[in-house]
Amino acid sequence: MAYGEFVVQRDLNFIVNRGDVFIIMGGSGCGKSTVMRALTGMQRPSAGTVWFEDARLWDLDDSARQRVLRRSGVVFQSGGLWSSMTLAENIELPLREYTDLDPQEMRELARLKLAWVGLAGFEEFYPSEISGGMQRRAGVARALALDPEVLFFDEPSAGLDPISSRRLDELILELKDSLGATIVVVTHELASIFTIGNNAVFLDPVSRTQLATGDPKWLRDHSDDPQVRAFLNRGDAA
Ligand SMILES: Nc1ncnc2c1ncn2[C@@H]1O[C@H](COP(=O)(O)OP(=O)(O)O)[C@@H](O)[C@H]1O
Ligand SMILES: [Mg+2]
Repeated sequence: MAYGEFVVQRDLNFIVNRGDVFIIMGGSGCGKSTVMRALTGMQRPSAGTVWFEDARLWDLDDSARQRVLRRSGVVFQSGGLWSSMTLAENIELPLREYTDLDPQEMRELARLKLAWVGLAGFEEFYPSEISGGMQRRAGVARALALDPEVLFFDEPSAGLDPISSRRLDELILELKDSLGATIVVVTHELASIFTIGNNAVFLDPVSRTQLATGDPKWLRDHSDDPQVRAFLNRGDAA
């Protein structure tokens, strides 16, 4: 991944398995968001590709790539909600674009997705009328609108209080269990990494490549890379 001549990360090679909660981890500025943008179709790698099952994402034409990407959902940090629309309308937006459900069915689905994230009864609220943690969860409901098989989160708990962030971690685990979704999370927060992650890649800003991939708990205790162990054994571990 590069910006012009500036290489952010090179020689990456990791596999996200179906059903994983996969953590992209590493210090600030190492390229986590950039790598996630390659996985979600938003930024073309300057070399290499991303496989989605047997499809090579970056070798497909735009419309074929969009078809593959419709099987994944992205949760944006701000929630990615339109402030002029109610929560239900926000969730109906992708349904209107990609399905031929009637308004009644769309409303029913919006209600269901909001209930999944603990926001039953908030259909008619506007984003500004709910807390930051609730907005984040409404963003999850929106990402769930089209029943994605893979859900991507970039620093989901950034800016949230500890209780809201813990609730978001719980929600991520619930989605994995109840929907059988595969989840990819960018985070550097150890409490989250160990609570939700079963697989991970560690990106290093100095060598600009991955130093390890695997179960973060295992890496914490057994990685042969001192930087990976140091990162995973920082003092703020939960
Ligand atoms: N649009 C951009 N143009 C140029 N450089 C960028 C751009 N976005 C990010 N970078 C640089 O790429 C590196 C990785 O950024 P980023 O992927 O946001 O890291 P992280 O998410 O791990 O904090 C940083 O050095 C950052 O300054
Ligand atoms: Mg980032």
